[in-house]
Amino acid sequence: MNEHVSLPVAGEDAAKRQNSRKVFIKTYGCQMNVYDSGRMSDALAGEGYVPTEEMGEADLILLNTCHIREKAAEKVYSALGRLRDMKNERAADGKELMIGVAGCVAQAEGEEILRRAPAVDMVIGPQTYHRLPEALKRARDGQRVVDTEYAVEDKFEHLPATDKARIRARGVTAFLTVQEGCDKFCTFCVVPYTRGAEVSRPFSQIVDEAQRLVDGGVREITLLGQNVNAWRSVGPDGREWSLGNLLYRLAEIPGLARLRYTTSHPRDMDDGLIEAHRDLRALMPYLHLPVQAGSDRILKAMNRRHTAAEYLRLIERIRKARPDIAMSGDFIVGFPGETDADFEDTLRIVEEVNYAQAFSFKYSTRPGTPGAELSDQVPEEIKAERLERLQALLLKQQAAFAKSCVGKVIDLLLEKPGRMPGQLIGRSPWLQSVNVDAKASQIGDIIKVRITGTGPNSLFAEPAEGLIGA
Ligand code: SAH
Ligand code: SF4
Ligand code: F3S
Repeated sequence: MNEHVSLPVAGEDAAKRQNSRKVFIKTYGCQMNVYDSGRMSDALAGEGYVPTEEMGEADLILLNTCHIREKAAEKVYSALGRLRDMKNERAADGKELMIGVAGCVAQAEGEEILRRAPAVDMVIGPQTYHRLPEALKRARDGQRVVDTEYAVEDKFEHLPATDKARIRARGVTAFLTVQEGCDKFCTFCVVPYTRGAEVSRPFSQIVDEAQRLVDGGVREITLLGQNVNAWRSVGPDGREWSLGNLLYRLAEIPGLARLRYTTSHPRDMDDGLIEAHRDLRALMPYLHLPVQAGSDRILKAMNRRHTAAEYLRLIERIRKARPDIAMSGDFIVGFPGETDADFEDTLRIVEEVNYAQAFSFKYSTRPGTPGAELSDQVPEEIKAERLERLQALLLKQQAAFAKSCVGKVIDLLLEKPGRMPGQLIGRSPWLQSVNVDAKASQIGDIIKVRITGTGPNSLFAEPAEGLIGA
């Protein structure tokens, strides 16, 4: 998954705001945290909390945290330092401010957070969000709560469903977690420890939730999982279904125009899923399929369990099934033992694939992972230099991809107000943000537009009514 998204979950329930307690949720990390923040907000509504986007007016502040790299985890402690001052000021006025830490730092550090950050009232791991109301009650009674067990019950069974008004307020695109946790144990990664073992949500739960989202006006659903394509469940025919089967079923929901899924592991890209890309128009031609490195030696040390050649062959098959598919990936430079020659292999695989989008990172040593035990750590300057070279290449490819879109007529899902009055921002099939002149009443519509130009992070387009689609 990529950890660069942050969508607001507040802005809801405006009418109830005046008299209720308010919760401010700050979301760090990946899309799954964005989804979870929404579900926590729903659970807190039952306790009388309405969401706010103003931290200063909140009675409860929740940090939904990320542990993936050292920097991500550090951010949480600096935020908690600032919150301590805020809490003290409130206390001086005789007012309450509760502070909770959720997400992957909560899971990884548990009690340690209470020791390091005296302002924190509760620490809640990702598998216990359904117990948040209970934790909150205990915290309001003066206890400091840590709940980071891997609960045996299914949290999704116990979390309240998002109501229609909230779905509407969150917009026309939505995330839906279908799978959580990871059994792959890549040697650099904390996720198997912070999210626990791989668990798939049952088929019927997912279909019901997707239907509810569509009933609430959602046009595009992105299925989420740390290894989303490892999703398995018993289908309505009593047979074992994989993600491909699920996508065919979801594509039948009337009104659901677009489907995406993220993040996939190359090992779990099965034939059925590739066929879904061939057959389903609703399945958008964009695939985030991280490879991390291009050297077989490093891939092996990372425990990715495939070679560079296998990855390239896989992409060839996917492109054969869906020729207009845009590829996206994640890369780590400076994994322990990575030589110049290994790094050149990474540049080579990038050249071969030609990515439309990518995320790249310096290897960050994570306590408790096997990578942290390795002796031949790469010096920081070398990591920085490699990252710069890799990013230059990836940016060049991204810019070339954006440029190749100019002149094309595409379907645009209108999502939200643009920067200028009279403009909206929409999503292209390839997940690009596109600015176009359109009326606010068109949000949720899919219109034909012609791409006229590129900006630093988005494209420009004009309505193409009457033009023949490309
Ligand atoms: N499940 C996904 C990745 C989830 S983490 C997968 O298997 O591809 C998102 C990205 O963060 C990873 O793809 C990786 O590129 C990066 N990442 C994970 N651990 C890291 C670490 N220790 N240092 C630097 N980057 C890391
Ligand atoms: Fe982390 Fe690897 Fe699992 Fe992805 S597959 S979440 S990188 S351990
Ligand atoms: Fe996501 Fe960060 Fe956890 S990427 S799974 S929030 S460690």
